[in-house]
Amino acid sequence: MNVADLRDQLAAIQTEAEASFKSAKTVDELRSARSQVVGKSGSLGKLMGTIKDYAPQERGEVGKALNAANQAIQQLVDQHTQRIEQADLAADASQTAAFDPTLPGKRPPLGSVHPVTAVQWQVEAIFERLGFTVEAGPEMESDYYNFEALNIPAMHPARDMQDTFWLKNGLLLRTHTSPVQVRAMEKFGAPLRCIVPGRCFRYETIDASHENTFHQCEGLMIDRNVSIANLIAVMRLLLREVFERDVKVRLRPGYFPFVEPGFELDMSCLICGGDGCATCKKSGWLEILPCGMVHPNVLKFGGIDPHEYTGFAFGLGLTRLAMMKYGIRDIRVMNQGDLRSIVHPSRLNGPTVVERDRC
Ligand code: PHE
Repeated sequence: MNVADLRDQLAAIQTEAEASFKSAKTVDELRSARSQVVGKSGSLGKLMGTIKDYAPQERGEVGKALNAANQAIQQLVDQHTQRIEQADLAADASQTAAFDPTLPGKRPPLGSVHPVTAVQWQVEAIFERLGFTVEAGPEMESDYYNFEALNIPAMHPARDMQDTFWLKNGLLLRTHTSPVQVRAMEKFGAPLRCIVPGRCFRYETIDASHENTFHQCEGLMIDRNVSIANLIAVMRLLLREVFERDVKVRLRPGYFPFVEPGFELDMSCLICGGDGCATCKKSGWLEILPCGMVHPNVLKFGGIDPHEYTGFAFGLGLTRLAMMKYGIRDIRVMNQGDLRSIVHPSRLNGPTVVERDRC
């Protein structure tokens, strides 16, 4: 190639380079466009290696032309680097303008929750996954829902099982969450799956394992062909999820007028590991889950045909469950407002065993 052709080619390379640099939107794109020109096998890079092919008297001129082209390219690169950097800055600035410093910030989780609340949230999450809804009922309840509709008529000896706070207005403080069974049946009909966490009251002498105010969580599942096998499976799943390990359970016959057959589901005491302590009355077992198949009379009270539907119900002792989960030996701690017994949010899901005795 003679020197004149070389000059033409260098001019063409510059024009081409300028066009490709112009279309580069990022520094990386610009860098790769540049190397396609000045890199070893780039359009200019290749020409650089041809100096030795020229006659010695031409080499000075050729060298100068190549260098000039190289510098021109470098200038273009600098120019476009600046262009891109400025565009980036402008984009940043427009984002800064969109940032509104007066918006309230994210609040870090503050405070702690009561152990019963912590366990209640966990139980709700487990049952919601199983398609249960979370319902509520009144704490001040009528004789009808608390007893009558649960197959415990007036004068029935089973009324003595639950010492009751009767109110002057003819109502009572509910002795369990079971009254919501019939309330839920009336409201939703069958099929039905719900849990009812809530506060209950009994006229009890208070000691390490009895309180006059405590929490239960009722559970009710009604559908065609619901069986005891379903009941046991759900109870096992519940305890395994709450304690994050397989918990030993045993089923004993238990009497509750609103279930037939009725059971007492016990779990091995996690405080003493089954050896026997004050909490489990030295038996190694804790009654935690009274349960059974809903009595046909109760279904009828709820307006559900017992020939078509069956169901199971349970009354989980939420307070007792929280004591087990968090290693609280004395139930009286629960209602004392002792700040040492509350659960930090970071521990809400992990198994936590803290020694907290009545002080
Ligand atoms: N309500 C009963 C109690 O408090 C417990 C229970 C609920 C039993 C549901 C069976 C079925 O003693």
